[in-house]
Amino acid sequence: MKGFQQVLLLVSVICSIGYGQVSDQELLDISSALWDGDTNSMKDAVSYNEDGVVLFDSVDETRLSQGTYGRFQALREFYVPEIGIPDNCGSGTSCYQAQESLLDLVMTSHPITTVHPFLASKGLADSSISGFRSEIRQYFFQEFSRSGGAALDSSGFEHAFLGEVRNQNEITGFHGWIQAYLLERDGDFSLNAYEQTCQPDVGRTGFDWNYGGNTYTKSVSSISIGNSIEAELALYTLCFLARPNASCRVSLEGNSRAVQTYTMSNVSPTTVGTSYISC
Ligand SMILES: *[C@@H]1O[C@H](CO)[C@@H](O)[C@H](O)[C@H]1NC(C)=O
Repeated sequence: MKGFQQVLLLVSVICSIGYGQVSDQELLDISSALWDGDTNSMKDAVSYNEDGVVLFDSVDETRLSQGTYGRFQALREFYVPEIGIPDNCGSGTSCYQAQESLLDLVMTSHPITTVHPFLASKGLADSSISGFRSEIRQYFFQEFSRSGGAALDSSGFEHAFLGEVRNQNEITGFHGWIQAYLLERDGDFSLNAYEQTCQPDVGRTGFDWNYGGNTYTKSVSSISIGNSIEAELALYTLCFLARPNASCRVSLEGNSRAVQTYTMSNVSPTTVGTSYISC
């Protein structure tokens, strides 16, 4: 009996080395549960096209002003796209209040309340919802510098959902469909290329962003269209914790997709540097 237990222990130790605590099958199951069950998805309220000229045909602006979408738009106003200029989103700021207001709704949403018990059962998240909220704040809203310490000019949220600009002409990050829509609507976003490599709903696009009198360009970026902020946050959090710095295989509406996340180097506590969905 003792020998058997030792073998079991050995097997479980070997299984936990380099493999994480979440199996590939569990990742497919939980990603599909949180994403396919996104009760606040706007897939039925967005139409986009693949002709490579204009990305969005129409988006329901009423829906986009409600719930987490409305709070996301309010929060977006606080971020300064340029790397090297502070965002001023620290504790006590209006930006921080807008983050709190978004988190109030995100933390009770279907995707988050689906992924939370799963992550907690794996020891990857605090078992209380308030503890998990602090962790999500740390992963996505903790400010850090991408300018060698010149300014607190970045966060996982800003990088992934809004994008950032630098060196007069470069865009970095920028994987959020709502940001792309709002900028295109306002005449500040133009598509250069559209690859239909990852359909439905994930486009690999090249585009220009007109900001502050400059034109910034990204040659290719993955943008997933139509899901809620909370579904993207839940999916990114899952992969950031289960498969950090790696391609995380997930199942989104029956399609095999990869979620790539990176930990930001030299920032403590641990926070997201990049996260996006690709093929
Ligand atoms: C992920 O990569 C970053 C940057 O290279 C590194 O600092 C971090 O330790 C890595 N994290 C894991 C969990 O491997």
